Amino acid sequence: MAMPVSAPSLGERLRVTPTGGGIGAEIAGIDLRTLDEGDFAAIRRAFVAQSVLLFRGQRLGDDDLIAFSRRFGPLDWAPVQENGRRFVEGKPEIYIVSNVIENGVAIGSLGAGEAVWHTDMSYLEDPPMASMLYAIEVPAKGGNTGFCNMYSAYEALPAELKRRAEGLRIKHDGTYNSGGYLRAGVAASDDPRTSPGAVHPLVCTHPESGRRCLYLGRRRNAYLVGLELAESEALLDALWSCATRDEFTWYNSWRPGDLVLWDNRCTMHRRDPFDPASRRIMHRTQIKGAERPAA
Ligand code: OGA
Ligand code: MN
Repeated sequence: MAMPVSAPSLGERLRVTPTGGGIGAEIAGIDLRTLDEGDFAAIRRAFVAQSVLLFRGQRLGDDDLIAFSRRFGPLDWAPVQENGRRFVEGKPEIYIVSNVIENGVAIGSLGAGEAVWHTDMSYLEDPPMASMLYAIEVPAKGGNTGFCNMYSAYEALPAELKRRAEGLRIKHDGTYNSGGYLRAGVAASDDPRTSPGAVHPLVCTHPESGRRCLYLGRRRNAYLVGLELAESEALLDALWSCATRDEFTWYNSWRPGDLVLWDNRCTMHRRDPFDPASRRIMHRTQIKGAERPAA
């Protein structure tokens, strides 16, 4: 009897084109609503290899965005918005990044200013391993999002800094978000030793790639546990000045229909400001980490 013949997997035909910058790749010619298992396996591999993936020309409703996100694993609920609004009605997984005001109420977070370098929600003990951001409306100019390669950042450290970083633990601040806004329900604080947050290893081993990377989280209120404050500040400044060099970064200049997926374990991201009179609406999901960051 003839054996059933399975069609060659589409996944093997996916084109993964590196951005040419310090991180990331674009995957073209694919509709994220209709991926077969082979496509998804190829995307999963590219995600670990490239850390940041751009898919253009998508047409995703919130349910499509949630469905694609869930293929990577269970989702975290979105953080509370700056105005205290908890979630999008009926969809606790969706976080809105937007400057748009409707009926006097901000529909999302982060306004129109700069968002400083950070990794998402690392003020939690078990931060999401990945985030994806889908562009619905974007300004004509500005509002680009930059990504930084934290493997490169670690590898490029001078030997002496690498040695000093080894074995240290760092507090990732839970007071302010990347737009500089106080998180809902948190007391203002600028003492990194006592401000709320979670403590993680400063140098981590990525659980899937096995590669070592720096895990800085964000600069404001960061603290190297056990050090004198001045010593912690000086060492953090030295690490940060190496970490965010232009050659380790890549910026996405957004078009509506862009989806960017990034690995929070080995990247940071930031956003350029844009004209507050223009509209920018992005919807985000965050994928649970299977294991906490480990040294
Ligand atoms: C985020 C974020 C920046 C941006 O969604 O986590 O930091 O460009 N967004 O909107
Ligand atoms: Mn972010």
